[in-house]
Amino acid sequence: MTPEASAWAIYGRLLGRARRYWAYLGAAAIGMMFEAASAGAFTLLMKPMVNDTFVEPDPTTRWVLPLVIVGLFVVRGIATFTTDYGMSRAGRSVVRDLRKDVLAKYLRLPSTRFDLEPVPAMVSRLNYDTEQVTQATSDAIKVLVTDSVTILVLLGVMFYSSPLVTVVMLVVAPLIAVVSAVVGRRYRKINRGIQDGVANMAQVAEQALSAQQEVKVYGAQASEQQRYDALVDRNLKLSVKVDTTRAAASSMVQTLAAVGLAVILLVAGQEAAQGRMDAGTFVSLLTAMMAMLPSLKRVTNVQSLIQKGVAAADRLFGILDEPDEPDTGTVSLVKSRGEIEFRGVGVRYPGQDAPALDNISFTAAPGTVTAIVGRSGSGKSTLIRLLPRFYEASTGSVLVDGVPVDSYRLADLRRQIAIVGQRVMLFDDSIATNIAYGQPPGTDPARIRAAAEAANATEFIDRLPGGMQGRIGENGGLLSGGQRQRLAIARAMLKDAPILILDEATAALDTESERLVQDALNRLIPDHTTLVIAHRLSTVEHADQVLVLDAGKLVEKGTHAELLARGGLYSHLHRMQFREPEAG
Ligand SMILES: Nc1ncnc2c1ncn2[C@@H]1O[C@H](COP(=O)(O)OP(=O)(O)OP(=O)(O)O)[C@@H](O)[C@H]1O
Ligand SMILES: [Mg+2]
Repeated sequence: MTPEASAWAIYGRLLGRARRYWAYLGAAAIGMMFEAASAGAFTLLMKPMVNDTFVEPDPTTRWVLPLVIVGLFVVRGIATFTTDYGMSRAGRSVVRDLRKDVLAKYLRLPSTRFDLEPVPAMVSRLNYDTEQVTQATSDAIKVLVTDSVTILVLLGVMFYSSPLVTVVMLVVAPLIAVVSAVVGRRYRKINRGIQDGVANMAQVAEQALSAQQEVKVYGAQASEQQRYDALVDRNLKLSVKVDTTRAAASSMVQTLAAVGLAVILLVAGQEAAQGRMDAGTFVSLLTAMMAMLPSLKRVTNVQSLIQKGVAAADRLFGILDEPDEPDTGTVSLVKSRGEIEFRGVGVRYPGQDAPALDNISFTAAPGTVTAIVGRSGSGKSTLIRLLPRFYEASTGSVLVDGVPVDSYRLADLRRQIAIVGQRVMLFDDSIATNIAYGQPPGTDPARIRAAAEAANATEFIDRLPGGMQGRIGENGGLLSGGQRQRLAIARAMLKDAPILILDEATAALDTESERLVQDALNRLIPDHTTLVIAHRLSTVEHADQVLVLDAGKLVEKGTHAELLARGGLYSHLHRMQFREPEAG
């Protein structure tokens, strides 16, 4: 497809989305026709206005005409209102739909997609690109239809008044337009040069003045002065050039316009002499020409508006056309036993040479705790991301209850998993709503309270103004790290999923906070199959098994005591890395 053809295809798709609002569009279209028609009618009225009011006063017309004018503008006002309302309603609705669809799409995209585009860029697509699309749909259409029809109507009026004079006008007017466009371009170019020069001038002066001591000590006044002089001289030359260009341009355009008018007058006079034109017709002709100018200007500029809108729409449609997260599994799962197995799992991120995980195999029996340890970048987060299928294994398979995770329906699989991460995601809403996140509306407040209690969170919630119903500020800005963790634990308690994924905070919580969090976790962990990225000694000590990762490989596996006795990487990490809460 050529670029134009694809631009039309995109525009067509955009209009397809507007079809649902055909009633508003139809009303707007009728309004536009009335607007154009009233522009034509007004210019036609010029003839009786001149002839019957002034040239040969007619008693009836003298009273009727003012009323007609008022009536005409009332109609025009209603038409304009209808057009603007209809177009705004339809255009804004298209944008609203796009925003909803794009956000919904973003939430269905695979996690890997979020590595490619930063979130602020996504938000700007939602806000800014959709806004540009409105302009292309509503403003541009309004201009295209109203102004094109207006031009046609006015041309019709002119031809009706006098074909000959109209033809002469149509020859003379483009000449003037071309000349003024050329002059205008040159003027803008020089003007830009001056603006750059002014910035330069200011910079040189500022430098010299703020370094005045150096300038004086090095005796550099003369050279600084020279630099500034050169810039000021150039500025003088350019400024004069701008002013003279403008003066020359405007006199040239005016002279041309005068010549044009003279030619028109000559032809019109000829017509009048032969009785084919009167004063009223001439005024009506001139008015039509003048009234056409703003419409012409808007129509010639509408191109860029459409281009911007089409480019933005192209980006948005590009997002809407991206494939969703694969969800082809058919096995349904109500409540998993919580048995996890990794069978020869390897992961390679796109564009990376070394695999992030290489041939990982282990099983986690229902209700056990598996601690994952290893240096930064060893693949711990990658491993746990495979379970809810945020990322897919490149080789091998991950099984839950003996079935590969990609055989399950995605929503069913994810319902089995609760995550308490380092970054706790909170919404600017009440504590209760945050704990009940993802639960069906109308969750029993007593259950929410019980979850908060078990998570050791009521201790601080009850001290907050508003308690359970108190708001927590944007992203929980009013809460401490330990408090946020406990809210996340309460959320996981309420979800009560068979599989629990923990990513322990590396940043030190204070001793008291640490104890409350640990205590809450100890209440959450039993009955759940837990995978935990461990940073605390007590976690690894109590784990049923510890997996030691190094550069994506599973290098050691066993209990804390076994691994310590072996004296390998684990015992080394143990000495370097694990900390107890002080005086814990
Ligand atoms: N989204 C990604 N795209 C590309 N490479 C990634 C991505 N996430 C992680 N990696 C790479 O994969 C390797 C393992 O990263 P991973 O985040 O799993 O390590 P980690 O053990 O969790 O480290 P840390 O303790 O610092 O959190 C690293 O080399 C990392 O650079
Ligand atoms: Mg990590």
